[in-house]
Amino acid sequence: MLERNPNLKTTTATPTPKASLALRGLHWFMALAIAAALTLIYVNELYVGHFSVQKVLTNAHIVAGLSVLVLVPLRFAVHWLLPLPPITPAPPRWQARLEAPVHATLYLLMLATPVLGLLVAQSSGRVIGLFGLALPALIGRDIALSHSLEAIHENLALALLCLVAAHAVAALTHHLIRRDDTLKRMV
Ligand code: HEM
Ligand code: HEM
Repeated sequence: MLERNPNLKTTTATPTPKASLALRGLHWFMALAIAAALTLIYVNELYVGHFSVQKVLTNAHIVAGLSVLVLVPLRFAVHWLLPLPPITPAPPRWQARLEAPVHATLYLLMLATPVLGLLVAQSSGRVIGLFGLALPALIGRDIALSHSLEAIHENLALALLCLVAAHAVAALTHHLIRRDDTLKRMV
Protein backbone atom coordinates (compact mmCIF):
# COMPACT_ATOMS: atom_id res chain seq x y z
CA MET A 1 0.00 0.00 0.00
CA LEU A 2 1.29 3.42 -0.84
CA GLU A 3 1.73 5.82 2.02
CA ARG A 4 2.08 9.54 1.75
CA ASN A 5 5.07 11.09 3.41
CA PRO A 6 3.75 14.25 5.13
CA ASN A 7 7.24 15.80 5.00
CA LEU A 8 7.29 15.72 1.20
CA LYS A 9 5.65 18.87 -0.15
CA THR A 10 5.36 19.51 -3.85
CA THR A 11 5.40 23.11 -5.04
CA THR A 12 3.54 23.90 -8.24
CA ALA A 13 3.73 27.27 -10.03
CA THR A 14 0.28 28.90 -10.30
CA PRO A 15 -0.67 28.81 -13.99
CA THR A 16 -1.42 32.17 -15.68
CA PRO A 17 -5.19 32.63 -16.04
CA LYS A 18 -5.84 32.70 -19.79
CA ALA A 19 -8.42 34.35 -21.99
CA SER A 20 -10.90 31.72 -23.23
CA LEU A 21 -9.62 29.47 -26.02
CA ALA A 22 -12.39 30.82 -28.28
CA LEU A 23 -11.26 34.43 -27.77
CA ARG A 24 -7.58 33.57 -28.23
CA GLY A 25 -8.34 31.58 -31.38
CA LEU A 26 -10.48 34.34 -32.85
CA HIS A 27 -7.95 37.04 -31.86
CA TRP A 28 -5.01 35.43 -33.67
CA PHE A 29 -7.01 34.06 -36.63
CA MET A 30 -8.52 37.49 -37.29
CA ALA A 31 -5.15 39.24 -36.85
CA LEU A 32 -3.84 36.92 -39.61
CA ALA A 33 -6.90 37.55 -41.80
CA ILE A 34 -6.47 41.34 -41.48
CA ALA A 35 -2.75 41.09 -42.23
CA ALA A 36 -3.56 38.89 -45.25
CA ALA A 37 -6.24 41.33 -46.53
CA LEU A 38 -3.76 44.24 -46.35
CA THR A 39 -0.85 42.31 -47.89
CA LEU A 40 -2.95 40.91 -50.76
CA ILE A 41 -4.40 44.27 -51.78
CA TYR A 42 -1.04 46.07 -51.73
CA VAL A 43 0.73 43.23 -53.57
CA ASN A 44 -2.11 43.60 -56.10
CA GLU A 45 -0.79 47.07 -56.98
CA LEU A 46 2.51 45.54 -58.12
CA TYR A 47 0.67 43.67 -60.90
CA VAL A 48 -0.86 46.53 -62.88
CA GLY A 49 -1.73 45.20 -66.33
CA HIS A 50 -1.78 41.52 -65.21
CA PHE A 51 -5.54 41.27 -65.01
CA SER A 52 -5.82 37.57 -64.12
CA VAL A 53 -3.28 37.91 -61.26
CA GLN A 54 -5.05 41.04 -60.00
CA LYS A 55 -8.41 39.26 -60.12
CA VAL A 56 -7.08 36.36 -57.98
CA LEU A 57 -5.45 38.75 -55.48
CA THR A 58 -8.56 40.97 -55.19
CA ASN A 59 -10.78 37.90 -54.74
CA ALA A 60 -8.47 36.56 -52.02
CA HIS A 61 -8.54 40.02 -50.39
CA ILE A 62 -12.33 39.91 -50.40
CA VAL A 63 -12.39 36.40 -48.86
CA ALA A 64 -9.96 37.45 -46.06
CA GLY A 65 -11.94 40.66 -45.45
CA LEU A 66 -15.31 38.87 -45.42
CA SER A 67 -14.02 36.35 -42.87
CA VAL A 68 -13.27 39.30 -40.55
CA LEU A 69 -16.75 40.72 -41.12
CA VAL A 70 -18.46 37.38 -40.41
CA LEU A 71 -16.41 36.72 -37.24
CA VAL A 72 -16.67 40.17 -35.60
CA PRO A 73 -20.16 39.61 -34.08
CA LEU A 74 -19.16 36.14 -32.81
CA ARG A 75 -15.95 37.53 -31.29
CA PHE A 76 -17.80 40.41 -29.68
CA ALA A 77 -20.23 37.93 -28.09
CA VAL A 78 -17.31 35.80 -26.79
CA HIS A 79 -15.50 38.92 -25.51
CA TRP A 80 -18.65 39.93 -23.64
CA LEU A 81 -19.66 36.49 -22.31
CA LEU A 82 -16.16 35.26 -21.37
CA PRO A 83 -14.30 38.39 -20.20
CA LEU A 84 -10.51 38.59 -20.12
CA PRO A 85 -9.03 37.70 -16.70
CA PRO A 86 -7.47 40.68 -14.87
CA ILE A 87 -3.81 41.53 -15.57
CA THR A 88 -1.33 40.51 -12.84
CA PRO A 89 0.25 42.61 -11.43
CA ALA A 90 -2.45 45.23 -12.04
CA PRO A 91 -1.32 48.05 -14.38
CA PRO A 92 -1.53 51.74 -13.34
CA ARG A 93 -5.04 53.17 -13.38
CA TRP A 94 -4.49 55.37 -16.48
CA GLN A 95 -3.53 52.27 -18.49
CA ALA A 96 -6.50 50.27 -17.21
CA ARG A 97 -8.78 53.17 -18.24
CA LEU A 98 -7.43 53.10 -21.80
CA GLU A 99 -8.21 49.41 -22.32
CA ALA A 100 -11.97 49.61 -22.95
CA PRO A 101 -11.92 52.56 -25.43
CA VAL A 102 -8.98 51.05 -27.37
CA HIS A 103 -10.69 47.66 -27.65
CA ALA A 104 -14.00 49.33 -28.62
CA THR A 105 -12.25 51.32 -31.39
CA LEU A 106 -10.54 48.16 -32.66
CA TYR A 107 -13.95 46.43 -32.83
CA LEU A 108 -15.51 49.42 -34.63
CA LEU A 109 -12.71 49.47 -37.21
CA MET A 110 -12.86 45.67 -37.65
CA LEU A 111 -16.54 46.11 -38.51
CA ALA A 112 -16.54 49.37 -40.49
CA THR A 113 -13.53 48.51 -42.72
CA PRO A 114 -15.02 45.35 -44.28
CA VAL A 115 -18.52 46.90 -44.48
CA LEU A 116 -17.04 49.75 -46.53
CA GLY A 117 -15.12 47.15 -48.58
CA LEU A 118 -18.42 45.42 -49.34
CA LEU A 119 -19.91 48.74 -50.47
CA VAL A 120 -16.84 49.46 -52.67
CA ALA A 121 -17.14 46.05 -54.30
CA GLN A 122 -20.91 46.23 -54.86
CA SER A 123 -20.87 49.81 -56.17
CA SER A 124 -18.17 48.77 -58.66
CA GLY A 125 -20.63 46.19 -60.01
CA ARG A 126 -19.21 43.05 -58.35
CA VAL A 127 -21.56 40.37 -57.01
CA ILE A 128 -20.23 39.25 -53.62
CA GLY A 129 -20.97 35.70 -52.48
CA LEU A 130 -20.87 34.27 -48.99
CA PHE A 131 -21.08 30.50 -48.35
CA GLY A 132 -22.08 30.05 -52.01
CA LEU A 133 -24.95 32.55 -51.85
CA ALA A 134 -24.94 35.98 -53.50
CA LEU A 135 -25.29 38.74 -50.90
CA PRO A 136 -28.10 41.23 -51.57
CA ALA A 137 -26.79 44.47 -53.11
CA LEU A 138 -26.71 47.20 -50.44
CA ILE A 139 -25.85 49.79 -53.09
CA GLY A 140 -26.32 50.10 -56.86
CA ARG A 141 -23.55 50.24 -59.48
CA ASP A 142 -21.96 53.72 -59.42
CA ILE A 143 -18.31 53.90 -60.40
CA ALA A 144 -17.70 57.48 -59.18
CA LEU A 145 -19.21 56.63 -55.79
CA SER A 146 -17.17 53.42 -55.71
CA HIS A 147 -13.94 55.46 -56.01
CA SER A 148 -14.99 57.78 -53.14
CA LEU A 149 -15.93 54.79 -50.97
CA GLU A 150 -12.61 53.12 -51.79
CA ALA A 151 -10.75 56.14 -50.36
CA ILE A 152 -12.79 55.89 -47.13
CA HIS A 153 -12.26 52.09 -47.05
CA GLU A 154 -8.49 52.54 -47.40
CA ASN A 155 -8.36 55.28 -44.71
CA LEU A 156 -10.28 53.07 -42.27
CA ALA A 157 -7.89 50.19 -43.03
CA LEU A 158 -4.89 52.47 -42.37
CA ALA A 159 -6.44 53.72 -39.11
CA LEU A 160 -6.92 50.06 -38.10
CA LEU A 161 -3.31 49.32 -39.01
CA CYS A 162 -2.00 52.29 -36.91
CA LEU A 163 -4.10 51.33 -33.89
CA VAL A 164 -3.07 47.67 -34.16
CA ALA A 165 0.60 48.73 -34.30
CA ALA A 166 0.18 50.84 -31.11
CA HIS A 167 -1.75 47.95 -29.50
CA ALA A 168 1.00 45.45 -30.33
CA VAL A 169 3.72 47.79 -29.02
CA ALA A 170 1.71 48.22 -25.79
CA ALA A 171 1.35 44.42 -25.47
CA LEU A 172 5.09 43.92 -25.96
CA THR A 173 5.89 46.72 -23.47
CA HIS A 174 3.74 44.96 -20.86
CA HIS A 175 5.51 41.68 -21.56
CA LEU A 176 9.13 42.81 -21.87
CA ILE A 177 9.31 45.90 -19.63
CA ARG A 178 6.55 45.63 -17.02
CA ARG A 179 6.85 41.83 -17.14
CA ASP A 180 3.17 41.29 -16.33
CA ASP A 181 0.92 38.56 -17.79
CA THR A 182 -0.95 40.74 -20.37
CA LEU A 183 0.47 38.87 -23.36
CA LYS A 184 0.68 35.42 -21.71
CA ARG A 185 -3.11 35.53 -21.17
CA MET A 186 -3.60 35.82 -24.95
CA VAL A 187 -1.31 33.02 -26.17
C1 HEM B 1 -10.39 43.93 -42.51
C2 HEM B 1 -10.79 43.89 -43.73
C3 HEM B 1 -10.25 44.71 -44.89
C4 HEM B 1 -9.12 45.47 -44.99
C5 HEM B 1 -8.05 45.71 -43.91
C6 HEM B 1 -9.11 46.04 -46.31
C7 HEM B 1 -8.14 46.91 -46.81
C8 HEM B 1 -8.16 47.48 -48.08
C9 HEM B 1 -7.23 48.48 -48.55
C10 HEM B 1 -6.09 49.08 -47.73
C11 HEM B 1 -7.58 48.79 -49.82
C12 HEM B 1 -7.00 49.90 -50.68
C13 HEM B 1 -6.07 49.53 -51.72
C14 HEM B 1 -5.85 50.75 -52.60
O1 HEM B 1 -6.82 51.33 -53.08
O2 HEM B 1 -4.70 51.10 -52.79
C15 HEM B 1 -8.70 47.96 -50.18
C16 HEM B 1 -9.31 47.95 -51.43
C17 HEM B 1 -10.42 47.20 -51.74
N1 HEM B 1 -11.12 46.38 -50.89
FE1 HEM B 1 -10.66 45.98 -48.96
N2 HEM B 1 -10.21 45.60 -46.98
C18 HEM B 1 -10.94 44.79 -46.16
C19 HEM B 1 -12.12 44.14 -46.44
C20 HEM B 1 -12.76 44.16 -47.66
C21 HEM B 1 -14.00 43.46 -47.97
C22 HEM B 1 -14.82 42.62 -46.98
C23 HEM B 1 -14.27 43.68 -49.29
C24 HEM B 1 -15.41 43.20 -50.15
C25 HEM B 1 -16.42 42.47 -49.75
C26 HEM B 1 -13.21 44.51 -49.80
C27 HEM B 1 -13.13 44.97 -51.11
C28 HEM B 1 -12.16 45.82 -51.59
C29 HEM B 1 -12.12 46.28 -52.97
C30 HEM B 1 -13.10 45.87 -54.09
C31 HEM B 1 -11.01 47.14 -53.06
C32 HEM B 1 -10.53 47.87 -54.32
C33 HEM B 1 -9.58 46.94 -55.00
C34 HEM B 1 -9.23 47.39 -56.38
O3 HEM B 1 -10.13 47.57 -57.17
O4 HEM B 1 -8.02 47.55 -56.63
N3 HEM B 1 -12.30 44.79 -48.80
N4 HEM B 1 -9.04 47.19 -49.11
C1 HEM C 1 -5.04 42.91 -36.58
C2 HEM C 1 -4.43 42.70 -35.43
C3 HEM C 1 -5.06 42.81 -34.05
C4 HEM C 1 -6.31 43.20 -33.66
C5 HEM C 1 -7.46 43.69 -34.54
C6 HEM C 1 -6.38 43.06 -32.22
C7 HEM C 1 -7.48 43.35 -31.43
C8 HEM C 1 -7.59 43.08 -30.10
C9 HEM C 1 -8.79 43.21 -29.30
C10 HEM C 1 -10.14 43.74 -29.81
C11 HEM C 1 -8.51 42.78 -28.06
C12 HEM C 1 -9.49 42.68 -26.87
C13 HEM C 1 -9.81 41.22 -26.62
C14 HEM C 1 -10.66 40.63 -27.76
O1 HEM C 1 -11.88 40.86 -27.79
O2 HEM C 1 -10.09 39.93 -28.62
C15 HEM C 1 -7.12 42.40 -28.04
C16 HEM C 1 -6.44 41.94 -26.92
C17 HEM C 1 -5.09 41.71 -26.89
N1 HEM C 1 -4.24 41.71 -27.97
FE1 HEM C 1 -4.68 42.16 -29.84
N2 HEM C 1 -5.16 42.61 -31.77
C18 HEM C 1 -4.32 42.45 -32.85
C19 HEM C 1 -3.02 42.02 -32.85
C20 HEM C 1 -2.26 41.83 -31.72
C21 HEM C 1 -0.84 41.59 -31.69
C22 HEM C 1 0.07 41.57 -32.93
C23 HEM C 1 -0.51 41.42 -30.36
C24 HEM C 1 0.84 41.14 -29.73
C25 HEM C 1 1.98 41.56 -30.17
C26 HEM C 1 -1.72 41.53 -29.60
C27 HEM C 1 -1.81 41.37 -28.23
C28 HEM C 1 -2.96 41.45 -27.50
C29 HEM C 1 -3.02 41.27 -26.05
C30 HEM C 1 -1.84 40.98 -25.15
C31 HEM C 1 -4.35 41.44 -25.68
C32 HEM C 1 -4.92 41.43 -24.24
C33 HEM C 1 -4.95 42.91 -23.87
C34 HEM C 1 -5.59 43.27 -22.58
O3 HEM C 1 -5.83 42.45 -21.75
O4 HEM C 1 -5.88 44.49 -22.43
N3 HEM C 1 -2.77 41.80 -30.44
N4 HEM C 1 -6.58 42.58 -29.29
